[in-house]
Order: sequence, then C-alpha cells, then structure tokens
Amino acid sequence: MRVAQATAPTFLLVALLTFVGTGTARNDMPVAFNAAPAIAGQHSTSVTSLTEAPGPGPVREFTLTAEEARIGGQVAWTYNGTVPGPELRVTQGDRIKVTLVNHLPAATTIHWHGVVVPNAEDGVAGITQDAVPPGDRYIYEFVAKDTGTYWYHSHQDTTAQLGRGLFGALIVEPPTGNVAEAVDYTAVLHATPDGSGIAVNGTAGDLHVAARPGERVRLRLINAFPPSMDGGPLAPVVFGATYQVVALDGHDLNQPQPISPERLPLGMGQRADVVFTMPQSGAVRLAVAALSGQVSSGQKFFPAEAPWHGSLIIGDGPLPAASSFDQLPLFDLTQYGSAAADPVASGHFDATYPLVLDETPGFHDGRIELVHTINGQSSPYVPPITVHQGQVIHLHMVNLTGEYHPMHLHGHIFTVLALNGKAIQGSPVHLDTILVGPHETWDVAFLANDPGIWMLHCHVLLHASFGMSMTVNYAGITTPFEMGSRSGNVPE
Ligand code: C2O
Ligand code: CU
Repeated sequence: MRVAQATAPTFLLVALLTFVGTGTARNDMPVAFNAAPAIAGQHSTSVTSLTEAPGPGPVREFTLTAEEARIGGQVAWTYNGTVPGPELRVTQGDRIKVTLVNHLPAATTIHWHGVVVPNAEDGVAGITQDAVPPGDRYIYEFVAKDTGTYWYHSHQDTTAQLGRGLFGALIVEPPTGNVAEAVDYTAVLHATPDGSGIAVNGTAGDLHVAARPGERVRLRLINAFPPSMDGGPLAPVVFGATYQVVALDGHDLNQPQPISPERLPLGMGQRADVVFTMPQSGAVRLAVAALSGQVSSGQKFFPAEAPWHGSLIIGDGPLPAASSFDQLPLFDLTQYGSAAADPVASGHFDATYPLVLDETPGFHDGRIELVHTINGQSSPYVPPITVHQGQVIHLHMVNLTGEYHPMHLHGHIFTVLALNGKAIQGSPVHLDTILVGPHETWDVAFLANDPGIWMLHCHVLLHASFGMSMTVNYAGITTPFEMGSRSGNVPE
C-alpha cells in the first residue's frame, strides 16, 4: 500500500491509513534492537574496543556542558550556554579530548559529524555507546586526522535535541598554523529560537565581520538548519566580490574557479568554505535563503518563499546590491574546478549496493507517519550493508520522492562519481553528506578503512526518525548497545 506522491492530499492519506488499519504495525520500533549483535560461539570484536590508540600528538582538552539556557525568550538546550555551542578549533594531528557533562533533564551524546574517528568515539546512542544520563559525564577522545570544516551535535533523540540547540562547529586547521586567508570566519546557519527563520551564529539580523580592503577572507558555512518536511537545502550566496568555493564538507576542491553570485545548495549537515578578496571599497554580503524541495515542470527549485533571512556583512562601507533570488544560477558541484586523478573513483569496486529512497504511509514507531524507506524498509529493519576492511564500496542512490535527502555516512568520506548517470566533469568531490534531490540518482564510492558499525541516514532528521536510516557494518564487529524504548537509546 503506497502513494506515489508525497504531496497526496491529506484526505487521501487519511483514507489510506484508515484502510490499512491498525493491524499493520510492522514498522514499530521494538523496545530493544541491536544493530550488530554478538553471536554466541562466534569470535567478534566489540565496538567498545575500537578506541583511539595511544600516541604522541598534543592533547587539546575541552568541556562541553549540555545545559538549558534561556535564549530569545525560549528555553534552548545548549553546550556551555550558547547556541551554537562553542567553536572547537584544533590543529591537524591534535589529540582531542572532550568531556561531555550532562546537566540536561534527558540523556544525550555528542557525534562528530564528518570527522573520521574510531568507532567507539562516534557518539551514536544505541550503537557506539549508551546515551549519557542526566548528571553523568562521558569522555570522547580522537586524533583530528583531516583538516577542514566539521561540526558536532547530539546523536540521541537527534531530531529534538539538535532542533533545541545542541550543535556547534569543529574546525581543524592545517599543522602549518592558520589557513592562508587573513580572515577565517565560521558561519553556522541554523534556526532562530522560535524555529521561524534562519539565524547565523545565533543572530537572526545582520551580523558584522571585520575585514579590510584587499584582505583575503574565508567563510566556513555549516548548515545546521532543520528543514521542513521537503528537506530543502539552504542556498547561501556571496554578493560584492567574486568568490571561490574552495572546499565542500571540509575537503578541498581542485582549482576552484572564481564565480559571481550563485545559489549554493547546502543540504542539512553539509558545509562549504568560500574564499574571496575584499574589494577596495564597500562591504561584502553573505545572504542565505531556503530552497523549497518541490519540483514543478522541469524547474529544479521553486523560488524561496521568503528570501534572504540570515545575513553576514563582511567589511565596512556601502552594501552590494542583492539580486533576486530565483534569477541566480545554481552552483553545480559536478562541473566545478578541474578534473584530477582520484584513487577511489578510478579504481575498481568490490561491491555495489543500491539505496532506493522512498516513502509510504504507514506505521512507524507506534505512530501513523509517511514512513521513509531505504530499499523498501524503514529503520531499524533496513538490512545493513556489510563490508570488509579495505573494500571500495559503490553506492547507487535513487530518490523516488519529491523531497531532498542529504544522505550522511558516519566515519567515511564519499567520492562522488556521477549525478543522474553522468560522470562528474570538474574537480574530484569528497563529501560525507550527499544531497540527493527530488528524483535524482547519485553514484558515490567509499573506501572501507575504519572498522565499526556506522550510521548511514538522511540528515533531514524528521526523515531519519520516520525510518530513513540504516547502518554499514564491518564483518566481525558487534555492538553490546541497543536502541529502542527499553534501552533509552534513540539515535534518530
Ligand atoms: Cu550529523 Cu548521524 O549525523
Ligand atoms: Cu530525507
């Protein structure tokens, strides 16, 4: 029983659900579910043993206290009292030790989004640890192996906890010190406290960043904005200077050419670093709008309903003119920069798996929902992809819905191969989150080189909690942790 369109009229959905009846609770989250149980008599390695090996590396210690704070008239859930939480800025090779102190009324965890960490440090409640109860603390320890723009957020009851404010930026600088740009500024794009608009670093109005004429500026954009049900991305645009998109999801692009204002689709969880030179006079403006996920008559995006919410003003002087949002070209990551050899893209694949993304009305976790499915199943029943260390795995992602699905794999980096069957033309692109637009197909591959049990899910957290979530399991690795109501662990 399914409807083809997410946009089916509500009365039809209600009629169908009535017809389906209450007997088909096949998607109920069980009270306890183990994503990779140990089997008696079989040798296996527990995720709990997959910690960072001891080593030299300077140790950087941080404390993140999860606590309530009143922000903009609302009670937010914060790290150290602010939304976003403090920016953690470290150097490649540093050994990061973060103590999570839980002063919230609920259990919580921290996940290091996009960061290649040992599995035990991944912060997923019910897979790599038990959620940390109120009053307790937990230490995460990992070496920052790759430079770039990353972020951290709760991975327990993520839809609610991230929405309430439990997120922050994690920046890994090159070992040589700062990046080349004189101004290096992180802009976390997120929801205003009442959820009605886009804020940048906690400010819904214009935020000012100091920069002098002729200075080079790097903006690190992080999309932490929970979209509506259509999953539409944000579209930041830079006005007042030509600019380069130098990195996506923290990974540098090869020979990025300068562009004029373009809408850069950034799905939830994705990041982009943009670089420009300050003009001799006048300010540069970063404006952000939400793209709607609806597709109509060949038009990829509807114009946003209320453009240019969040805004950064860089430098002083007159503001550049902003063009009309829907007139601007769309940045296309498949045709940007120059081609270069990529070991994962050019090698052979040990296995290929489809990931068919769809939705169907039904029951999930005891509720009537538009159940979101991967290969026809919803979490926790989507069969895992089982891999062996050293394999190169090819995923063929097919989106049968009219929504956006930013598909995120923990602990690994995708190499993008093709969009809608067409091989990418520009720079090699390495992402941890693939924005799979309405009715698109994406081919990506990753090297399995970090043993563990890793989540692979849509970063539209509503979709994930409606079932669009699964795991990539390394053969021979098991977890003692369980998710579901009895365990108290709810990773989505
Ligand atoms: Cu940003 Cu599963 O996470
Ligand atoms: Cu989705």
